Amino acid sequence: MKKILVTGGLGFIGSHTVVELVQAGYEPVIIDDLSNSHISILDQLTTILGFKPQFHQVDLCDEAAVKNLATSIADVTGIIHFAAFKAVGESVAHPLKYYRNNFYSLINLLNAYYGKPLNFVFSSSCTVYGQPDNLPVTEDAPVKAAQSPYGNTKQIAEEILQDMIASGANYKVVSLRYFNPVGAHKSALIGELPIGVPQNLVPFITQTAIGKREKVTVFGNDYNTPDGSCIRDYIHVVDLAKAHVAALKYMEEESFKGYDVFNIGTGKGTSVLEVVNAFERTTGVKFAWSIGPRRDGDVEQVWGDVTKSTEVLKWKAELDVDTMMASAWEWEKAIANKPL
Ligand code: WQD
Repeated sequence: MKKILVTGGLGFIGSHTVVELVQAGYEPVIIDDLSNSHISILDQLTTILGFKPQFHQVDLCDEAAVKNLATSIADVTGIIHFAAFKAVGESVAHPLKYYRNNFYSLINLLNAYYGKPLNFVFSSSCTVYGQPDNLPVTEDAPVKAAQSPYGNTKQIAEEILQDMIASGANYKVVSLRYFNPVGAHKSALIGELPIGVPQNLVPFITQTAIGKREKVTVFGNDYNTPDGSCIRDYIHVVDLAKAHVAALKYMEEESFKGYDVFNIGTGKGTSVLEVVNAFERTTGVKFAWSIGPRRDGDVEQVWGDVTKSTEVLKWKAELDVDTMMASAWEWEKAIANKPL
């Protein structure tokens, strides 16, 4: 069975990808430092999978520890690298923390496994596009000056990977540019676990609906969009997880060499107000919300052209916004009843 290292594998997207890897016949090995995840997710995954996946707590910023990891777990055919700090606002307040963590972990990992013909999937983000000039945004759209140190770490990481491939490294690399991952596994055993006050829209909605937050503030309704609120490409986390399996299979094809990049979204734009309405319509749960001022750094509208992912990765998102809202709500209720 092909063994795949999944760094950040107890996190939101990582844990859902572990499930899809097993479904696809791979053997995931979870690496996580638990700085932004919960060890109880391992138990939840055990329940979903019917067995306990291999887990190692490793700080990827510790070069010696990563070298030991590569020695002890040498027989991997691929690596999916999720482990990174990803809160946009926090990255503005603490840039050095973000640059250190996101670059040390990536470089230590690439160095430790250097020379083996590995398939490396990098967790990138649509944030590299900033506010695209044209929509939907394609993979060859210009990468714009990052709106945050977090976004900058994604842009520079992609450049590091491309430079490494150009130097003749034996890796094959695919960067997946995620749009907005939301929702949860149908079992409601894994989902998004924001630490502290959620920065992202959907967990803030579900926490407000369950009574943990007072009210959702819609950050601006005076944008140049049909209903005045910002537009994003929300994608169900399970569809996103499946895209990682598709990327591995693509790299396992003999014809693939070097580096490639893909948009992982639905190809559809949805506004903040449409998300609010979809949640209330799908769950039947009303919650307090009001219009507030714009949030600094927000782009007005961005959604992905996913033609390349569909045609080349042979992958397409299947779940709609209502399913995203329903699954996010089931997860919020599950953790309210049985805190992890
Ligand atoms: C979505 C929309 C807000 C909260 C970020 C990262 C991106 C990716 C996903 C990692 C925006 C509005 C939000 C609220 C609101 N992360 N909003 N009230 O900023 O599009 O993307 O998370 O890969 O890289 O940049 O996501 O959920 O924060 O915001 O009105 O309480 O919801 O203004 O228009 P964002 P988000």
